[in-house]
Amino acid sequence: MTLPASVRADSAAVESHLASLFDTLPGPAAALACSMRYATMNGGKRLRACLVLAASRLAGGGQLCDGVMHVAAAVECLHAYSLVHDDLPAMDDSDTRRGKPACHIAFDEATAILAGDALQTLAFGILADPGVSEDASVRARLVTELAAAAGVGGMAGGQMLDLEAETGTPSLDEVRQMQAMKTGALIRFAAVAGGIHGGASAALEAALANYSRDLGLAFQIADDLLDYDSDTESLGKPAGQDAARGKGSFVVLMGLDAARQTAAELITGAEAALAPWGAAAADLQAIARFAIERRS
Ligand code: IPE
Ligand code: IPE
Ligand code: MG
Ligand code: MG
Ligand code: MG
Repeated sequence: MTLPASVRADSAAVESHLASLFDTLPGPAAALACSMRYATMNGGKRLRACLVLAASRLAGGGQLCDGVMHVAAAVECLHAYSLVHDDLPAMDDSDTRRGKPACHIAFDEATAILAGDALQTLAFGILADPGVSEDASVRARLVTELAAAAGVGGMAGGQMLDLEAETGTPSLDEVRQMQAMKTGALIRFAAVAGGIHGGASAALEAALANYSRDLGLAFQIADDLLDYDSDTESLGKPAGQDAARGKGSFVVLMGLDAARQTAAELITGAEAALAPWGAAAADLQAIARFAIERRS
Protein backbone atom coordinates (compact mmCIF):
# COMPACT_ATOMS: atom_id res chain seq x y z
CA MET A 1 0.00 0.00 0.00
CA THR A 2 1.12 3.57 -0.55
CA LEU A 3 0.95 6.22 2.11
CA PRO A 4 -0.61 9.63 1.35
CA ALA A 5 1.68 12.17 -0.35
CA SER A 6 1.71 14.29 2.81
CA VAL A 7 3.15 11.40 4.86
CA ARG A 8 5.69 10.56 2.16
CA ALA A 9 6.75 14.21 2.14
CA ASP A 10 7.14 14.10 5.94
CA SER A 11 9.34 11.04 5.65
CA ALA A 12 11.57 12.73 3.04
CA ALA A 13 11.80 15.89 5.16
CA VAL A 14 12.87 13.89 8.22
CA GLU A 15 15.44 12.08 6.13
CA SER A 16 17.15 15.31 5.09
CA HIS A 17 16.82 16.79 8.59
CA LEU A 18 18.59 13.72 10.01
CA ALA A 19 21.29 13.94 7.34
CA SER A 20 22.12 17.52 8.32
CA LEU A 21 22.02 16.59 12.00
CA PHE A 22 24.72 13.96 11.45
CA ASP A 23 26.77 16.44 9.42
CA THR A 24 27.10 18.61 12.50
CA LEU A 25 28.01 16.07 15.19
CA PRO A 26 30.83 17.52 17.25
CA GLY A 27 34.04 16.10 18.65
CA PRO A 28 37.08 14.10 17.70
CA ALA A 29 35.40 10.66 18.06
CA ALA A 30 34.90 10.39 14.31
CA ALA A 31 34.44 6.61 14.28
CA LEU A 32 31.62 6.88 16.80
CA ALA A 33 29.92 9.69 14.86
CA CYS A 34 30.27 7.60 11.72
CA SER A 35 28.63 4.55 13.35
CA MET A 36 25.77 6.70 14.67
CA ARG A 37 25.14 8.05 11.20
CA TYR A 38 25.37 4.55 9.73
CA ALA A 39 22.86 3.17 12.22
CA THR A 40 20.33 5.93 11.59
CA MET A 41 20.70 6.84 7.91
CA ASN A 42 20.21 3.31 6.61
CA GLY A 43 16.73 3.39 5.22
CA GLY A 44 14.21 2.94 8.00
CA LYS A 45 10.53 3.48 7.26
CA ARG A 46 10.49 6.55 9.57
CA LEU A 47 7.08 5.53 10.82
CA ARG A 48 7.62 7.03 14.27
CA ALA A 49 8.78 10.35 12.81
CA CYS A 50 5.73 10.39 10.53
CA LEU A 51 3.52 9.81 13.57
CA VAL A 52 5.05 12.82 15.33
CA LEU A 53 4.48 15.06 12.31
CA ALA A 54 0.97 13.83 11.48
CA ALA A 55 -0.16 14.10 15.12
CA SER A 56 1.30 17.59 15.40
CA ARG A 57 -0.45 18.64 12.19
CA LEU A 58 -3.75 17.34 13.52
CA ALA A 59 -3.27 19.15 16.84
CA GLY A 60 -2.17 22.42 15.30
CA GLY A 61 -4.91 22.78 12.73
CA GLY A 62 -2.72 21.80 9.77
CA GLN A 63 0.26 24.02 10.60
CA LEU A 64 3.67 22.49 11.28
CA CYS A 65 6.39 24.60 12.89
CA ASP A 66 10.14 23.97 12.61
CA GLY A 67 10.63 22.65 16.13
CA VAL A 68 8.52 19.57 15.53
CA MET A 69 11.05 18.25 13.00
CA HIS A 70 13.54 18.06 15.89
CA VAL A 71 11.04 15.97 17.87
CA ALA A 72 10.66 13.64 14.87
CA ALA A 73 14.47 13.35 14.58
CA ALA A 74 14.80 12.63 18.31
CA VAL A 75 12.39 9.71 18.17
CA GLU A 76 14.22 8.23 15.16
CA CYS A 77 17.57 8.51 17.01
CA LEU A 78 16.11 6.75 20.03
CA HIS A 79 14.59 4.08 17.79
CA ALA A 80 17.88 3.59 15.90
CA TYR A 81 19.66 3.09 19.23
CA SER A 82 17.09 0.44 20.22
CA LEU A 83 17.69 -1.42 16.95
CA VAL A 84 21.50 -1.30 17.26
CA HIS A 85 21.35 -2.83 20.73
CA ASP A 86 18.55 -5.26 19.76
CA ASP A 87 20.82 -6.71 17.05
CA LEU A 88 23.84 -7.27 19.31
CA PRO A 89 25.01 -10.86 19.87
CA ALA A 90 23.95 -10.60 23.53
CA MET A 91 20.39 -9.79 22.44
CA ASP A 92 18.87 -11.03 19.14
CA ASP A 93 22.22 -11.63 17.43
CA SER A 94 21.04 -10.32 14.05
CA ASP A 95 23.65 -9.70 11.37
CA THR A 96 21.53 -7.55 9.06
CA ARG A 97 19.34 -4.52 9.56
CA ARG A 98 17.53 -2.46 6.93
CA GLY A 99 19.14 -4.55 4.21
CA LYS A 100 22.69 -3.82 5.33
CA PRO A 101 25.17 -5.28 7.81
CA ALA A 102 24.02 -4.55 11.37
CA CYS A 103 25.99 -1.82 13.15
CA HIS A 104 28.10 -4.30 15.17
CA ILE A 105 29.01 -6.13 11.94
CA ALA A 106 29.82 -2.97 9.96
CA PHE A 107 31.87 -1.64 12.91
CA ASP A 108 32.40 -3.82 15.98
CA GLU A 109 30.45 -4.67 19.11
CA ALA A 110 32.05 -2.06 21.34
CA THR A 111 31.42 0.69 18.77
CA ALA A 112 27.80 -0.47 18.36
CA ILE A 113 27.22 -0.31 22.12
CA LEU A 114 28.63 3.21 22.18
CA ALA A 115 26.66 4.22 19.08
CA GLY A 116 23.47 3.16 20.85
CA ASP A 117 24.44 5.03 24.02
CA ALA A 118 25.30 8.21 22.13
CA LEU A 119 22.18 8.04 19.93
CA GLN A 120 20.08 7.84 23.07
CA THR A 121 21.71 10.88 24.68
CA LEU A 122 21.52 12.71 21.35
CA ALA A 123 17.75 12.15 21.36
CA PHE A 124 17.37 13.68 24.82
CA GLY A 125 19.73 16.54 23.95
CA ILE A 126 17.63 17.37 20.90
CA LEU A 127 14.41 17.46 22.93
CA ALA A 128 15.90 19.67 25.64
CA ASP A 129 17.20 22.21 23.10
CA PRO A 130 15.26 25.49 22.82
CA GLY A 131 15.08 24.87 19.05
CA VAL A 132 12.27 22.40 19.82
CA SER A 133 10.04 24.98 21.46
CA GLU A 134 10.40 28.33 23.19
CA ASP A 135 8.10 26.97 25.87
CA ALA A 136 10.30 25.22 28.45
CA SER A 137 7.31 23.36 29.88
CA VAL A 138 6.72 21.72 26.47
CA ARG A 139 10.38 20.67 26.32
CA ALA A 140 10.27 19.32 29.87
CA ARG A 141 7.15 17.28 29.11
CA LEU A 142 8.70 15.81 25.97
CA VAL A 143 11.88 14.83 27.84
CA THR A 144 9.88 13.28 30.68
CA GLU A 145 7.61 11.38 28.29
CA LEU A 146 10.56 10.03 26.28
CA ALA A 147 12.37 8.96 29.45
CA ALA A 148 9.27 7.00 30.51
CA ALA A 149 8.85 5.47 27.03
CA ALA A 150 12.48 4.42 26.67
CA GLY A 151 13.33 3.27 30.18
CA VAL A 152 12.62 0.46 32.62
CA GLY A 153 8.85 0.89 32.31
CA GLY A 154 9.04 1.18 28.52
CA MET A 155 11.32 0.00 25.73
CA ALA A 156 14.31 -1.18 27.79
CA GLY A 157 12.06 -2.96 30.28
CA GLY A 158 10.15 -4.58 27.43
CA GLN A 159 13.40 -5.79 25.89
CA MET A 160 14.26 -7.40 29.24
CA LEU A 161 10.90 -9.21 29.27
CA ASP A 162 11.45 -10.24 25.63
CA LEU A 163 14.77 -11.89 26.54
CA GLU A 164 13.29 -13.57 29.61
CA ALA A 165 10.44 -14.93 27.47
CA GLU A 166 12.97 -16.84 25.33
CA THR A 167 13.44 -19.33 28.16
CA GLY A 168 9.95 -19.12 29.70
CA THR A 169 6.34 -19.72 28.67
CA PRO A 170 4.68 -16.30 28.82
CA SER A 171 0.88 -16.04 28.82
CA LEU A 172 -1.00 -13.89 26.31
CA ASP A 173 -1.31 -11.12 28.90
CA GLU A 174 2.42 -11.25 29.57
CA VAL A 175 3.20 -11.06 25.84
CA ARG A 176 0.79 -8.13 25.49
CA GLN A 177 2.57 -6.36 28.35
CA MET A 178 6.02 -7.08 26.89
CA GLN A 179 5.02 -5.78 23.44
CA ALA A 180 3.31 -2.70 24.82
CA MET A 181 6.58 -1.87 26.54
CA LYS A 182 9.26 -2.83 24.01
CA THR A 183 7.50 -1.42 20.93
CA GLY A 184 4.26 0.25 22.01
CA ALA A 185 5.83 2.77 24.38
CA LEU A 186 7.95 4.52 21.73
CA ILE A 187 5.12 4.51 19.17
CA ARG A 188 2.85 5.98 21.82
CA PHE A 189 5.49 8.60 22.61
CA ALA A 190 5.69 9.57 18.93
CA ALA A 191 1.96 10.21 18.57
CA VAL A 192 1.53 11.89 21.94
CA ALA A 193 4.68 14.02 21.51
CA GLY A 194 3.34 15.29 18.19
CA GLY A 195 0.12 16.20 20.00
CA ILE A 196 1.95 17.92 22.85
CA HIS A 197 4.10 19.91 20.44
CA GLY A 198 1.12 20.90 18.31
CA GLY A 199 -0.84 22.09 21.37
CA ALA A 200 -3.46 19.30 21.38
CA SER A 201 -6.55 19.62 23.58
CA ALA A 202 -6.82 17.15 26.47
CA ALA A 203 -9.41 15.21 24.45
CA LEU A 204 -7.11 14.91 21.43
CA GLU A 205 -4.13 13.93 23.58
CA ALA A 206 -6.18 11.16 25.18
CA ALA A 207 -7.39 10.02 21.75
CA LEU A 208 -3.80 9.98 20.44
CA ALA A 209 -2.77 7.87 23.42
CA ASN A 210 -5.59 5.37 22.72
CA TYR A 211 -4.87 5.34 18.99
CA SER A 212 -1.16 4.71 19.48
CA ARG A 213 -1.63 2.08 22.19
CA ASP A 214 -3.61 -0.08 19.75
CA LEU A 215 -1.32 0.83 16.86
CA GLY A 216 1.83 -0.11 18.81
CA LEU A 217 0.52 -3.55 19.68
CA ALA A 218 -0.70 -4.17 16.13
CA PHE A 219 2.65 -2.99 14.77
CA GLN A 220 4.58 -5.57 16.81
CA ILE A 221 2.10 -8.35 15.90
CA ALA A 222 2.67 -7.43 12.23
CA ASP A 223 6.43 -7.53 12.81
CA ASP A 224 6.12 -10.98 14.38
CA LEU A 225 3.91 -12.18 11.48
CA LEU A 226 6.46 -10.93 8.95
CA ASP A 227 9.20 -12.85 10.76
CA TYR A 228 7.16 -16.01 10.07
CA ASP A 229 5.78 -15.42 6.60
CA SER A 230 8.22 -13.12 4.84
CA ASP A 231 11.85 -13.54 3.79
CA THR A 232 15.15 -11.98 4.76
CA GLU A 233 15.52 -10.11 1.48
CA SER A 234 12.13 -8.35 1.68
CA LEU A 235 12.55 -7.62 5.40
CA GLY A 236 16.14 -6.42 5.26
CA LYS A 237 16.66 -8.28 8.55
CA PRO A 238 16.82 -12.01 9.31
CA ALA A 239 13.45 -13.76 8.83
CA GLY A 240 12.50 -16.86 10.82
CA GLN A 241 14.63 -15.80 13.76
CA ASP A 242 11.87 -15.53 16.35
CA ALA A 243 10.91 -19.21 16.22
CA ALA A 244 14.57 -20.23 16.28
CA ARG A 245 15.18 -18.16 19.41
CA GLY A 246 11.90 -19.17 21.08
CA LYS A 247 10.53 -15.60 21.20
CA GLY A 248 7.17 -15.11 22.89
CA SER A 249 4.60 -13.61 20.54
CA PHE A 250 0.92 -13.55 19.61
CA VAL A 251 1.85 -15.66 16.59
CA VAL A 252 3.24 -18.45 18.81
CA LEU A 253 0.32 -18.35 21.25
CA MET A 254 -2.54 -17.86 18.78
CA GLY A 255 -1.35 -19.00 15.37
CA LEU A 256 -0.96 -16.89 12.23
CA ASP A 257 -4.64 -16.37 11.37
CA ALA A 258 -5.79 -15.38 14.85
CA ALA A 259 -2.78 -13.06 15.26
CA ARG A 260 -3.60 -11.43 11.91
CA GLN A 261 -7.22 -11.03 13.01
CA THR A 262 -6.15 -9.51 16.34
CA ALA A 263 -3.89 -7.00 14.59
CA ALA A 264 -6.75 -6.00 12.27
CA GLU A 265 -9.12 -5.53 15.23
CA LEU A 266 -6.56 -3.38 17.02
CA ILE A 267 -6.23 -1.15 13.95
CA THR A 268 -10.02 -0.80 13.78
CA GLY A 269 -9.81 0.33 17.42
CA ALA A 270 -7.02 2.79 16.63
CA GLU A 271 -9.07 4.27 13.78
CA ALA A 272 -12.14 4.57 16.01
CA ALA A 273 -10.16 6.57 18.58
CA LEU A 274 -9.59 9.33 16.00
CA ALA A 275 -12.97 9.07 14.24
CA PRO A 276 -14.28 12.27 15.90
CA TRP A 277 -11.55 14.21 14.05
CA GLY A 278 -12.81 12.98 10.67
CA ALA A 279 -10.80 13.79 7.56
CA ALA A 280 -8.29 15.86 9.56
CA ALA A 281 -6.98 12.56 10.95
CA ALA A 282 -6.62 10.92 7.51
CA ASP A 283 -2.81 10.75 7.65
CA LEU A 284 -2.84 9.02 11.03
CA GLN A 285 -5.54 6.63 9.81
CA ALA A 286 -3.41 5.77 6.76
CA ILE A 287 -0.35 5.15 8.95
CA ALA A 288 -2.43 2.78 11.11
CA ARG A 289 -3.52 0.73 8.06
CA PHE A 290 0.04 0.74 6.76
CA ALA A 291 1.27 -0.74 10.06
CA ILE A 292 -0.49 -4.04 9.36
CA GLU A 293 -0.48 -4.08 5.56
CA ARG A 294 3.24 -3.38 5.06
CA ARG A 295 5.52 -6.11 3.71
CA SER A 296 8.70 -4.95 5.44
C1 IPE B 1 11.45 -2.52 13.88
O1 IPE B 1 10.79 -1.31 13.72
C2 IPE B 1 11.51 -2.86 15.33
C3 IPE B 1 10.23 -3.08 15.96
C4 IPE B 1 9.84 -2.39 16.96
C5 IPE B 1 9.36 -4.13 15.50
P1 IPE B 1 10.50 -0.74 12.27
O2 IPE B 1 9.84 -1.80 11.43
O3 IPE B 1 9.78 0.55 12.39
O4 IPE B 1 11.97 -0.50 11.71
P2 IPE B 1 12.52 0.54 10.63
O5 IPE B 1 12.77 1.81 11.38
O6 IPE B 1 11.50 0.73 9.54
O7 IPE B 1 13.77 -0.10 10.16
C1 IPE C 1 12.47 -5.11 18.75
O1 IPE C 1 11.61 -6.17 18.49
C2 IPE C 1 11.86 -4.06 19.51
C3 IPE C 1 12.86 -3.04 19.87
C4 IPE C 1 12.70 -2.37 20.94
C5 IPE C 1 14.06 -2.76 19.08
P1 IPE C 1 12.22 -7.20 17.45
O2 IPE C 1 13.46 -7.81 17.97
O3 IPE C 1 11.13 -8.11 17.00
O4 IPE C 1 12.59 -6.20 16.25
P2 IPE C 1 13.27 -6.68 14.91
O5 IPE C 1 12.38 -7.76 14.33
O6 IPE C 1 14.63 -7.17 15.27
O7 IPE C 1 13.28 -5.44 14.07
MG1 MG D 1 14.28 -8.17 19.82
MG1 MG E 1 15.30 -8.21 16.85
MG1 MG F 1 10.87 -8.78 15.02
